[in-house]
Amino acid sequence: MDHFTYKDGVLHAEDVPLPAIAEAVGTPVYIYSRATFERHARVFRDGLSAIPDKHIAFAIKANPNLAVLNVLSREGYGADVVSGGEMARALAAGVPAKDIVFSGVGKSRGELAQGLDEGIGQFNIEHEPEGAALSEIALSRGLKAPATLRVNPDVDAGTHAKISTGMKENKFGVGIDSAPDIYGRLAKLSGLNLRGLAVHIGSQLFDLAPMEAAFERLGALVKQLRDSGHPITHVDLGGGLGIPYKAGEDHPPSPADYGAMVARVTRDWNVRLLFEPGRVIAGNAGVLLTQVLWVKPGASAPFVIVDAAMNDLARPAMYDAWHDFQPVQRTGERMTASIVGPVCESGDTFAIGREIEAVGPGDLAVFRTAGAYGATMASTYNSRALVPEVMVDGDQFAVVADRIPAGTIMAAERVPDWLR
Ligand code: LLP
Repeated sequence: MDHFTYKDGVLHAEDVPLPAIAEAVGTPVYIYSRATFERHARVFRDGLSAIPDKHIAFAIKANPNLAVLNVLSREGYGADVVSGGEMARALAAGVPAKDIVFSGVGKSRGELAQGLDEGIGQFNIEHEPEGAALSEIALSRGLKAPATLRVNPDVDAGTHAKISTGMKENKFGVGIDSAPDIYGRLAKLSGLNLRGLAVHIGSQLFDLAPMEAAFERLGALVKQLRDSGHPITHVDLGGGLGIPYKAGEDHPPSPADYGAMVARVTRDWNVRLLFEPGRVIAGNAGVLLTQVLWVKPGASAPFVIVDAAMNDLARPAMYDAWHDFQPVQRTGERMTASIVGPVCESGDTFAIGREIEAVGPGDLAVFRTAGAYGATMASTYNSRALVPEVMVDGDQFAVVADRIPAGTIMAAERVPDWLR
């Protein structure tokens, strides 16, 4: 459930009519609902109520806006970060360092040192040399780095290939067969407090079975490592729970279904479980508001050309992703159209021959479910501005990220003297 609803035929975010935001900020613009973020944070936590010892770290790659992180940190969420930049954001938003977990397949030595200096709660080691480097950097500071080893369980998550991470062909983690030996060697390093395992098999998962299979494999490894004398106290189960993108049609497992499965599989593990949800918290807490520029005849269906483009919302171009499209002002009429942006690529297409509620030039409309992997993946391709973000709270709203004009980006470039 979210807080983007029609009132008297006009789409609102909570109590704010979207035309008011378009007028104040312009379009395209991302709009977030604070109440929806809070609701999702609580529903996810409630889904895990049968799990006694847990920590939830929001995967901030899904939405790293400082205002969003502030809202989630008030809900007791920590942060899963994958770069020094994300770590700095989590800290700036008030997430306590001990609640930050550092994932990511290519952490640099500088980033590992940054994490140690900030005193973050956990490093998820992706391979043996990274673990050795972390130990060495920790020792040089007189520290012991709290760490887990990320395991690749070789399970097909059944999602889009570009967001699958748990098959042996993928770059993530160490193969589950080599994990015991690698764990044994890393556990001997005196700069590490190696205390468990981590796994994440992919994103937008609609089937709990592959996750369950991955967790079962991890459980067997926990037992094997304990039998070899390793005290295993922490297991990080990653994120990945899917969400509905097609209203009324998509029925992913609920956080309660997910929580029940996790509780069952991990019943005897006796560890602190860590969760890294991203999309399930943020996805339906945001929309991308856009304005129709033109409607142009097409071979099979007219093109609705909107002022948002693939640089603002990359998911359709990158993953053939579906985002529901709705007019802000209900018209009650239907049309079949292809929805495209102004960027000079045929890939700048949000929908092909889709039946939608009719829109015309000048109308406002939204792409739904844009709160996760939306603004954060935006670029300035075609020298377009960087898209701004707004947060709504009841009847008030605030710009929480400015529109960065193309001119500001250009001002950071220069032509060297030797070219003049
Ligand atoms: N933990 C790790 C280690 C991850 O790699 C990810 C996502 C998550 C947690 C959060 O997963 P979630 O709960 O959001 O599924 N840009 C793509 C999604 C990439 C996901 C990458 N990793 C998209 O727009 O679909």
